Amino acid sequence: MRISDNKTVRAAGVSGAAFDTVAIHGCAFDDPLSGSVNVPVYQTATYGQKEVGVAPAYCYSRTGNPTRTALERQLAALEGAECGLAFASGMAAINNVLNVLQSGDHVVAGQDLYGGAYRIFTKLYAKFGVTFTFVDTTDPANVAGAITRRTRLLWLESPSNPLLRLTDIEACAGIARRAGVVTVVDNTFATPVLQRPLDLGADVVVHSTTKYLAGHSDVLGGAVITRDAELHEPFKFFQNAVGAVPGPQDCFLVLRGLRTVGLRVERHCLNARRVAEFLSAHPAVKRVYYPGLTSHPQYALARRQQRDFGGVVSFELGDDVEAVKRFGSGCRLWTLAESLGGVKSLWCHPPTMTHASVEPEVRRGNGIRDGLIRLSVGIEAADDLIADLAEGLDRVASAQAFVAHQESGSCVSRVRREGAELEEACVAGEVSG
Ligand SMILES: Cc1ncc(COP(=O)(O)O)c(C=O)c1O
Repeated sequence: MRISDNKTVRAAGVSGAAFDTVAIHGCAFDDPLSGSVNVPVYQTATYGQKEVGVAPAYCYSRTGNPTRTALERQLAALEGAECGLAFASGMAAINNVLNVLQSGDHVVAGQDLYGGAYRIFTKLYAKFGVTFTFVDTTDPANVAGAITRRTRLLWLESPSNPLLRLTDIEACAGIARRAGVVTVVDNTFATPVLQRPLDLGADVVVHSTTKYLAGHSDVLGGAVITRDAELHEPFKFFQNAVGAVPGPQDCFLVLRGLRTVGLRVERHCLNARRVAEFLSAHPAVKRVYYPGLTSHPQYALARRQQRDFGGVVSFELGDDVEAVKRFGSGCRLWTLAESLGGVKSLWCHPPTMTHASVEPEVRRGNGIRDGLIRLSVGIEAADDLIADLAEGLDRVASAQAFVAHQESGSCVSRVRREGAELEEACVAGEVSG
């Protein structure tokens, strides 16, 4: 399936163009000095000014930098928006949105969120008197039930990290809008290639551009995107006031990644589907989480809301960390690492890595068991990736078979022992009937 064509996006200069065209032309940058076909890295902290009291287009790089401006335009264009802001990391972007909150405000958030988002909510903003209610957003009725007159934001991740649960963005954003609540969607997992939350009624999109948008695991970045100029104003103010901005070299790397995001995500999706099917058939695997499997409880929503199913697959080896270690010892192509969305395949153990900051009881209550593994399926050849996974899983299966054998062995000897004891008792006349 070709996922990114026929969808047109709004962007200065290329309005009406298909996604892959906007991914290359969306920033509409013309280099007046040399005609460079790439956006130059404006490696400068400050800019000479012509006259006292006359503000130039750029005065200081925390406030603005031409390489960053190009990236911000490009990010906005890909989400079909006018207002984009770039940040030093995804967490800086999330924090920037949260800066609009005041003591006494309330946020309704999805239960199954990236651990860092949960941490900044509960360990930082809670300290300032902001309250949070975490609900299972797979059912929009839970969102409606949690909104109070103090609710300012609805915070959604779809698909969620790490269990790939989906939220009906259109339904939830509609509920929020009617209550005067701003809907924020973390679109990191889906990317605008697969899903455009603003078209579904959300007000703000955040990204960790560290992931698929930059795509090579070589830079950190974040983004806040909206069509609403009134929301953008305070976001822009906080960006300058707080200063968590990316440097020009980092902006260049994200911009370069964006040029190929359509192609890469298409391949990530193809590979992920193959991997999910392979895992589903392996005897060592207890459960697979992937919205592209017909067994996923929200497969129908995934088909309706997304253009494809994404590059992340999670699976369970029971509730057993030892099995997770055994699996890892067999993999060569898959690297144990935090993060996702790069061309190189990674695996991670959410309970001890991305979600270690979530209290164990909350984590388990949300369905993240100790045997959970999250795969970020890269763009290597799918056959090689699967052969490598098979090595790891076969080790797990052999260990499981050994334990089962031991247990059945001890069971047989127990039955034999009990049988012998019974026989002795009968001979001694202690048991009758
Ligand atoms: C869904 C999601 N949002 C936000 C973040 C934070 O992004 P960053 O690591 O760039 O700060 C992550 C990081 O893994 C993430 O997975």
